[in-house]
Amino acid sequence: MDPNPLRIAVEPLLQRLDQLAAIGRTDGGGCCRLALTDEDRAGRDLVVRWMRDAGLDVRVDAVGNIFGRREGTHDLAPVMTGSHIDTVRSGGKYDGNLGVLGGLEVVRTLDAAGIRTQRPIVVAAFTNEEGARFAPDMLGSLAYVGGIPLADALAAVAIDGARVGDELRRIGYAGPEPLGLWRPHAYVELHIEQGPVLDVEGGVIGVVDNLQGISWQEATVVGQSNHAGTTPMRLRHDAGYCAAAIGTFLRQLARELGTHQVCTMGQVELHPNLINVIAGRARVTIDMRNTDEALLQEAERRLAAFLADLARDEGVDIATRRLARFEPVIFDAFIAGRIEACARRLGHTPRRMTSGAGHDAQMIARIAPTAMIFVPSVRGISHNPAEHTEPAHLAAGVDVLLHTLLDLAA
Ligand code: GLV
Ligand code: MN
Ligand code: MN
Repeated sequence: MDPNPLRIAVEPLLQRLDQLAAIGRTDGGGCCRLALTDEDRAGRDLVVRWMRDAGLDVRVDAVGNIFGRREGTHDLAPVMTGSHIDTVRSGGKYDGNLGVLGGLEVVRTLDAAGIRTQRPIVVAAFTNEEGARFAPDMLGSLAYVGGIPLADALAAVAIDGARVGDELRRIGYAGPEPLGLWRPHAYVELHIEQGPVLDVEGGVIGVVDNLQGISWQEATVVGQSNHAGTTPMRLRHDAGYCAAAIGTFLRQLARELGTHQVCTMGQVELHPNLINVIAGRARVTIDMRNTDEALLQEAERRLAAFLADLARDEGVDIATRRLARFEPVIFDAFIAGRIEACARRLGHTPRRMTSGAGHDAQMIARIAPTAMIFVPSVRGISHNPAEHTEPAHLAAGVDVLLHTLLDLAA
């Protein structure tokens, strides 16, 4: 353990997290900055201002990803860090924001200490990580690594009908830079865990060496809307019942496939959504994740078979649409090892772990050695205004990020 390591200043980090969270603040201390809304624009403007104040060269690419670059002493591939500042509708103030503002704090700490690195350091804020407004999630980082053509990314349609390309122009973030502007030498993302493992088991630093695969689908059921009092049960084609059956099937499926399978029906819409009318149409979303690709494919097969049986038994049509599909990711062993070594130097006993959530790091891992740092989420709560991480843990995570980036940028 280093007796006197360089550390970040905690107060400015906390203040900036609070100031950013004030944009789109919701009841209970939460935050709603859905991607490419006016709130997202205001958050972006603030982060860009802070990047410029820190002397970073700010660039925006064609899908609205923001990069702040600090030059190194050599013209080498940069070491990149970052995350996202968009939130879900029921967001908290740390998901994503910690990774971006933590990166900014690293740069400010290096400046204050008069440290030049050989490699440039780039702090990134990627567009639409959450996927709560536009599918797929991680859209900006996916486009950055060439995982979706720019035209397709710009054509993605929001839950409110808007398009990514139009919204980028409207908020002034359709940038001039090409996708994949720099291929990083390495990418390290700091994030809150968003799950209970560190909080329950008592660790401060998680070294994330893998991340589970994600399958998102939408199912639309078309049955027959009719009178709730007069239609005999045997003659119904009830889309509301089908939506409920899908929900209970998902729970059963997760149980059968074992502890690594998770399934969620997060959205349900019934039409016409009235007490005395059998629903003629239902739309539900299905989020399935597993660290094991074969099991995730098995979950998809079983779901498809269930939907076919349900459609036949109930006399309804069920159409599915894929919203996102990403395989599990194994992060880079060398980068994970550097994070672990830095954490130990700072006096922590790091814990190797899996990420249950999707992150921009899983996309950047396609083009550069990548790993992640987690800090605890109190009671494992996230995507909820009650999301909280103790200030000392926020600071510990940024300190580990600082030393890892210093190590990698030499
Ligand atoms: C992103 O936050 C996700 O994992 O859904
Ligand atoms: Mn996030
Ligand atoms: Mn999130």
